Amino acid sequence: MAQKGKILLSVTGFDPAIWRTALEKAAPDRAIVEEPSGPNDPGIDYAVVWKQRPGVLNGLPNLKAIFSIGAGVDHIFAEGDMPDVPIVRIVADDLTERMSEYVVWQVLDHHRKGMLYRDQQARKVWNESKMQPAARDVTVGILGYGNLGRDAGRKLRALGFKVIGWSRTAKTGEAIDTFAGDNGLNQFLALADIVVCLLPLTPATHGILAAPFFARMKARGPLGAPILINAGRGGLQNEADILAALESRKLGAVSLDVFESEPLPGDSPLWTHPRVTITPHAAAASMPEALIPPMVEQMDAHDRGEPLKNLVDRDAGY
Ligand code: NAP
Ligand code: GLV
Repeated sequence: MAQKGKILLSVTGFDPAIWRTALEKAAPDRAIVEEPSGPNDPGIDYAVVWKQRPGVLNGLPNLKAIFSIGAGVDHIFAEGDMPDVPIVRIVADDLTERMSEYVVWQVLDHHRKGMLYRDQQARKVWNESKMQPAARDVTVGILGYGNLGRDAGRKLRALGFKVIGWSRTAKTGEAIDTFAGDNGLNQFLALADIVVCLLPLTPATHGILAAPFFARMKARGPLGAPILINAGRGGLQNEADILAALESRKLGAVSLDVFESEPLPGDSPLWTHPRVTITPHAAAASMPEALIPPMVEQMDAHDRGEPLKNLVDRDAGY
């Protein structure tokens, strides 16, 4: 078997072993290395990264593209000095379906009063809430109506919810009402009873989920105060402002999968707040066996001269 160019696997924050195993299986004709063989290693063609070791991508003269093992690429841009090669992000049914499961789970939990009934069960209280709206009377606003937002929105509509979307660029021909830009955000927030945030973390979205945003949300709706679900990135949210908004009832309840600092520190008041649901950045895990084979297929196709798919727009940051 003719050897192709090497793949550099640079993963920090967790053990890269399962990614290495998947790469070795999908690309038996490429060496998988976790460090360049020296400065300016000419043998590396592609990099597969999650929070790459700082500097590891620089000075590789034949690097053709960087592949993120997540849908988000903020972890790559966190390193300021980056080689000017294409960056490919994950767009895969496996990850999309996992995210939609999380979104539907959390929306239904808030809609069907999961927090209330779990509390009642703990106290052996039998009391049916008379305030159960129908899904058709609840509007779910998807902040970040992109690949993940669209699929989650479709599944929520199948359950009967009204769904609206917000994005950076205006959309046409959508089956739902969509809004764009800052003016559009006002219209969007005036309608949404549950806001699901699936935005990427970029300079434009950093810290968006903060007091001024909560002040613009709908004051009351069929579920009482509005609900926030954030599975985008922790850097989108201001956790002190979320706690203040819960106290002032600008927010009725929140589900957070992502945090300003991960793991969420043990002394965060979010852990024990009765109207906060916490999951440990588990909304949509990247599964190597699902994601690596198409990644390697893209590398081989690119070597044959085909264009790369799912490219990141460096100016937009996602
Ligand atoms: P995507 O397809 O690129 O969609 C992003 C959406 O956000 C697009 O609709 C985009 O608008 C919109 N957007 C970006 N910047 C905006 C801005 N400044 N104002 C308004 N809208 C803006 O990305 P995706 O695949 O859906 O993934 C979204 C994010 O989910 C990822 O970046 C990652 O952070 C997060 N994620 C989290 C987990 C988890 O386990 N918690 C797992 C996977 C992904 P346009 O349509 O106009 O481009
Ligand atoms: C996970 O957070 C991802 O970006 O895929």
